[in-house]
Amino acid sequence: MSLKRNIQELRERKIEVQKGGGDKAIEKQAAMGKLTARERILAILDENSFHEYDMFVSHLARDFNMEKKILHGDGVITGTGTIHGSPICIYAQDFTVAGGSLGLMHARKITKIMDHALKMRVPLIGINDSGGARIQEGVNSLAGYGEIFFRNTLASGVIPQLSVILGPCAGGAVYSPALTDFVFVVENISKMFITGPSVIKTVLGEEISMEELGGARVHCETAGNAHFYAKNEQECFDQIKKLIELIPRSNTEKAKRVETKEPRKEYNIEEIVPENARLPYDIKDVIRSIADDSEFFEIMELYAPNIVIGFGRLDGQTCGFVANQPKYLAGVLDCDSSDKAARFIRYCDSFNIPIITLEDMPGYLPGVDQEHMGVIRHGAKILYAYSEATVPKITVIIRKAYGGGYIAMNSRHLRADFVFAWPTAEIAVMGPEGAANIVFRKEIQEASNPEAMRKQKIEEYKEKFANPFVAAAQGYIDEVIEPTETRSMLLHALSVAENKSVSMPRKKHGIPPF
Ligand code: HXC
Repeated sequence: MSLKRNIQELRERKIEVQKGGGDKAIEKQAAMGKLTARERILAILDENSFHEYDMFVSHLARDFNMEKKILHGDGVITGTGTIHGSPICIYAQDFTVAGGSLGLMHARKITKIMDHALKMRVPLIGINDSGGARIQEGVNSLAGYGEIFFRNTLASGVIPQLSVILGPCAGGAVYSPALTDFVFVVENISKMFITGPSVIKTVLGEEISMEELGGARVHCETAGNAHFYAKNEQECFDQIKKLIELIPRSNTEKAKRVETKEPRKEYNIEEIVPENARLPYDIKDVIRSIADDSEFFEIMELYAPNIVIGFGRLDGQTCGFVANQPKYLAGVLDCDSSDKAARFIRYCDSFNIPIITLEDMPGYLPGVDQEHMGVIRHGAKILYAYSEATVPKITVIIRKAYGGGYIAMNSRHLRADFVFAWPTAEIAVMGPEGAANIVFRKEIQEASNPEAMRKQKIEEYKEKFANPFVAAAQGYIDEVIEPTETRSMLLHALSVAENKSVSMPRKKHGIPPF
């Protein structure tokens, strides 16, 4: 054959493979409001940056007449490309080919690109759209999943791993996303569950739709399995690109520094927190009044909104913000908010991202529900995560810092590097009302006007303990600052902590309260 004919054949083969599961399957995919696997990859990556690998891999299944079936790319597209010029590895399951089901060679393509990502120390993006284990390939499919899960674990904390759920993701297949750092879902398109509605009907006799069981909103609001919610695929891809811009490529690097920008004028930090300490406000306004260009990229916005987590920049440097949200349940710590914050703290620590903690919370949520759900175990995760983190850790106490919550929210005692407090800070074992009722119960009961006495004792308590100066006198906070000084103090702290170096006791790994 001449070179020309070889080239011609190569081109024809490529065109054939790129047809995926054929026009009918592609039409079905489009009718569901879904892009094809290839379109998704191209939409996420920089233009002309995609290099596909293993395009001609074919399956080895021989049972159930499978030898006669041609499955282009074995139902998954893998390769490398760039996002904002930064290299990444990517795979996308192709639902048009055998429902994107995972057979042995399909799994091998995925594990090969995972190994590549880990070796090259670049982020991995996995797009899931699949009917799960390929039934005809039996245990080989299960083995394939096991190999993927093992690599997810190996890569955890070394390279960023992003999972994008753009179709069904059922059975044990959901455990790969669960082992990765960030899960993206899209309204009406994403479906994740261990056992589907038909199994639930058979076993439990309950009718439930796929959407109610494991739709995008369920995973963002209720289950906490997903971190980003989008209305459509394009919005989801924009979120992925934004995230990749903010985080480092691996645990051996820092996030790319960009030009610094002052916060926008519309956020006046002195006007956000109400005079009356009982009134709520939006902590995100405080973050926006501090962060470069007032930009805050929130993570898990819909889950446990009593704590807010996400990335913002200070002096062009990516920081992780962990902030109580007084607007929701007064910003209390509970099981879910502890889980949410602890995991994020560990992410920041793994990837060299300084952590800024903004504190205004009345403590851990009391109640039988919380106790029985394991608030002791879940609440301990925050203590563990902050104590273990060695990245720069800075706390600003804005208002309430009571009890166990005061310790948990990156206090000096868990080795915060800097603790600043606004003059409005109230640092004490508990709030003035509760404390006065306990400590001065006798005086209140015996007073001729108990209500007036109660008010007086609350004021006395406030005067004595509910301020930042008792803690400042002990050196537990470094400075009481005016709200307008917050950004400049944070910039100062970050610049002092630029070369922070601490060593922890040698161990294989700790045993966090998982
Ligand atoms: C082989 C599969 C398949 C699978 C779908 N297909 N799932 N082939 N193994 N698991 C094929 C279909 O036969 C069909 O092929 C094509 O993909 C499209 O599927 P449809 O059913 O026509 O699509 P749709 O109506 O959109 O329904 C999608 C679906 C449904 C809800 C995902 O296909 C489904 O329920 N699939 C089975 C899901 C499941 O139980 N998987 C196993 C989970 S257990 P043709 O040739 O007709 O186009 C598991 C264990 C993992 O995954 C354990 C890891 C530890």
